Amino acid sequence: MACAFRRSIACQLSKVLDLPPESLIKSISAVPVSKKQEGADFQLSVDSLLEDNSGRSRPDSQAKADRLAEKLKCGSVVSEISTGPGTVCFKINRELLTKAVLHQVMEDGSEYGLKSELFSGLPQRRIVVDFSSPNVAKKFHVGHLRSTLIGNFIANLKEALGHKVTRINYLGDWGLQFGLLGAGFQLFGYEEKLQSNPLQHLFEVYVQVNKEAEEDKNIAQLAHDFFRQLELGDVQALSLWQRFRDLSVTEYVRIYKRLGIYFDEYSGESFYREKAQAILQLLERRGLLQKTAKGSAVVDLSGNGDPSAACTVMRADGTSLYVTRDIAAALDRMDKYNFDAMIYVTDKGQQKHFQQVFQILKIMGCDWAERCQHVPFGIVQGMRTRRGDVTFLEDVLNEIQTRMLQNMASIKTTKALECPEETAEKLGLAALIIQDFRGLLLSDYQFCWDRVFQSRGDTGVFLQYTHARLHSLEETFGCGYLNDFNTTCLQEPQSVSILQHLLRFDEVLYRSSQDLQPKHIVRYLLTLSHLAAAAHRKLQIKDSPPDVAGARLHLFKAVRSVLANGMKLLGITPVCKM
Ligand code: ARG
Repeated sequence: MACAFRRSIACQLSKVLDLPPESLIKSISAVPVSKKQEGADFQLSVDSLLEDNSGRSRPDSQAKADRLAEKLKCGSVVSEISTGPGTVCFKINRELLTKAVLHQVMEDGSEYGLKSELFSGLPQRRIVVDFSSPNVAKKFHVGHLRSTLIGNFIANLKEALGHKVTRINYLGDWGLQFGLLGAGFQLFGYEEKLQSNPLQHLFEVYVQVNKEAEEDKNIAQLAHDFFRQLELGDVQALSLWQRFRDLSVTEYVRIYKRLGIYFDEYSGESFYREKAQAILQLLERRGLLQKTAKGSAVVDLSGNGDPSAACTVMRADGTSLYVTRDIAAALDRMDKYNFDAMIYVTDKGQQKHFQQVFQILKIMGCDWAERCQHVPFGIVQGMRTRRGDVTFLEDVLNEIQTRMLQNMASIKTTKALECPEETAEKLGLAALIIQDFRGLLLSDYQFCWDRVFQSRGDTGVFLQYTHARLHSLEETFGCGYLNDFNTTCLQEPQSVSILQHLLRFDEVLYRSSQDLQPKHIVRYLLTLSHLAAAAHRKLQIKDSPPDVAGARLHLFKAVRSVLANGMKLLGITPVCKM
């Protein structure tokens, strides 16, 4: 719809400029709603049409805009044409704007904004997203939490755009930690504890055996031996390892479910220990592997023997490393999914690791390494739960729930809810996600529970509150008024601002799809909620004539629909009561 207007403006421009309309569509953007009086709906940047794309507005650009505007005519769609420095501005016929926006929001439902012309010609792609990826028996730290939330957002967005997405959880399920765990479980493990709370128990055993192994050489030796047995494929050792892994995965699935997150594949480093050996042989055969004096082997990434650009791919004892297994995994995924893009989501500490993986793939002749992308994010400091530093994802979820329940109990307006725990969790998660997504992903930030949970200001609780409030409007008045509605009633500045803002949703989705940053959507939804609050104050439904009430109700319904769409993309489940 926004695109129908864009197209109509582009068609007129195309005649004047003698350029195909398709090439003009992306230069026409909806004008962000400003606090000032209502203005134009779309603008065209004259500079973006000129060949020199320096981004600076040129001294003569106002004159250019004026000259272009003079050649354009108003009609049934565009009711006013004006200019600003370097821009031509278009105001859409108000009645048409209202009808078209509301109609489109209702008709497209969860696809509103995604069917826009901005995305047309976008081929359907196969996309692999590798995210969350905790290490079995080790801490599930804040970095894993961020990877989980961000990866889920990227997967949601890509899927919404019509791509075929495969979500992979690449577990750290191999390595010396399993030697320690194997040896440790035989010494300090309890079968019942393993059954009842595997993640917790495995972590306890791991911590204890680590400590003991530092003091007692025999235990260190036992761990080493156990890992060796694993590497050699010893059936008994492997079956214990398999139990640890299976029990852990079952737990992960249950906990991710609380977050509303699932994976298509629980893969892991263990899958690639043999395939990593095959990679080493391949590198050797191609003459790309260089042995070091200590017996390990490296690949030269500089191409000129610069030792600082050497990447170790094999230990002196012949075993593979994290990087080698990632290379094997990438090749395997290419085989299995024939992906057009693969996205890895981890903290920025792994930037170098992924550069090395991609570069070695290139050296090996896999030109599809170009299609692999690492999305790095910054470090979060200071997230603590009642039980101390973050060690388990479940602790974070429980913390969110208890804190939110306390907040809700202290607020008088809280409604009587059937399941307050569930609502508390959804509110808290919204709060956490908005806090995490509001800035650039790469930025570090200091975590603070109180700030996260504020109900006023730009928080996730505010989004949920807005959604619940709009929902209750529909519940209260819905059946009475929704059939009777007259779009000419929506001419107040509060209504027009909302319509103009709804018009922009596709551009915001487009921006996020380009740079994979959720902050554009976050900002958009917060603005939408503020606009809704202002409108709610001014535009009464009760005591208004039926056609006015109906029109306003429609407008609020459209806001709630777009708000819910955006929240779901971010990984938030909107609540209807709070
Ligand atoms: N398990 C790793 C860690 O905790 C993250 C894995 C990311 N994915 C990958 N394919 N390397 O650091």
